[in-house]
Amino acid sequence: MKCYKFAVIPGDGTGPEVVNEGLKVLAAVAQKNGFKYETTHFDFGGERFMRTGEVLPKTAVEDLKKFDSIFLGAIGHPDVKPGILEKGILLKLRFDLDQYINLRPVQLFDERFCPLKDKKPSDIDFVVVRENSEGLYKGLGEFQNKGTPEEVAIQVSHNTRKGVERCIRYAFEYARNYGKKKQLTLCGKTNVLTFAFDLWERTFYEVAKEYPDIKTDYAHVDATTMWFVKNPEWFDVIVTDNMFGDIITDLGAMIQGGMGLAAGGNINPNGVSMFEPIGGSAPKYTGKNVINPLAAVCAMAMMLREVGEEGAASQVETSVKTVVTTKLKSVAAGKMGYSTAEVGDLVVKHL
Ligand code: IPM
Ligand code: MN
Repeated sequence: MKCYKFAVIPGDGTGPEVVNEGLKVLAAVAQKNGFKYETTHFDFGGERFMRTGEVLPKTAVEDLKKFDSIFLGAIGHPDVKPGILEKGILLKLRFDLDQYINLRPVQLFDERFCPLKDKKPSDIDFVVVRENSEGLYKGLGEFQNKGTPEEVAIQVSHNTRKGVERCIRYAFEYARNYGKKKQLTLCGKTNVLTFAFDLWERTFYEVAKEYPDIKTDYAHVDATTMWFVKNPEWFDVIVTDNMFGDIITDLGAMIQGGMGLAAGGNINPNGVSMFEPIGGSAPKYTGKNVINPLAAVCAMAMMLREVGEEGAASQVETSVKTVVTTKLKSVAAGKMGYSTAEVGDLVVKHL
């Protein structure tokens, strides 16, 4: 029988607390479905950086390549200058493991937790396929005359045909396999970013010819944020670049109820993927046993789906839905009516 090897990076802040609950649910669902796994913990994060001065050990990327998947808590520490850990750990792993897709489902489980008026779970149920290896995140640019009144800061969005095409192709496949409406929307800014999104648009409609069963649609990114609030039910699968994907998925997280429920996967379809709650390390809630662990539990479910345990993944998601709709008073930290650990226990109980 296959024994999955999972790398676990609890990380900073509330990362370890939510990862614990994810692993608790993993243990239960593995037993129920009769699959085996082993976990190896890595202490990457702010504490380790402050202790050793090293953001990521030199062998980290090679070590992680030996696993079936990576389960990540959160990266970001209040005592470390912003950018060091995010770039040195999170973005480095995404890039070096070539996790070129960031898959972020936006699903409302319970209308009580939706900030939008009159929107039901069936209205908010779409997926954002965010390009995860290029664009503005490539880090290309420069300062000119830094520190002078004539200073110029240039930050370049770097888009390759290959990078754009593999992302768009993944999105079409995703729409074909999982899309409810078999509809893919390209989110861009073709009216202003006439280099980057010209390439995206041309590639999108070229690849579309191979997917006659998928309806195509286009929305500018600013309009997309408007539709998220006004008509989220229009969306099925959305594909977009790295920066726009980052921004619209925070809005997506809010309309689905909040960061406590937002999970994502950094996916390399031919390599090692990494699954994480997208909410960050939430320093002010650290160690209080109040943070909502369900985003981490949902990330763990996405990880199971990716390695091929579809049945176990849906069981976890169904249980999360039951817990959210029948137990929780709120999905926000400290207001759930249960502690972090109790919410994990509830998911196990309802599997
Ligand atoms: C995210 C985060 C990261 C990003 C940061 C922490 C680098 O905001 O996963 O959305 O911008 O991708
Ligand atoms: Mn973000």
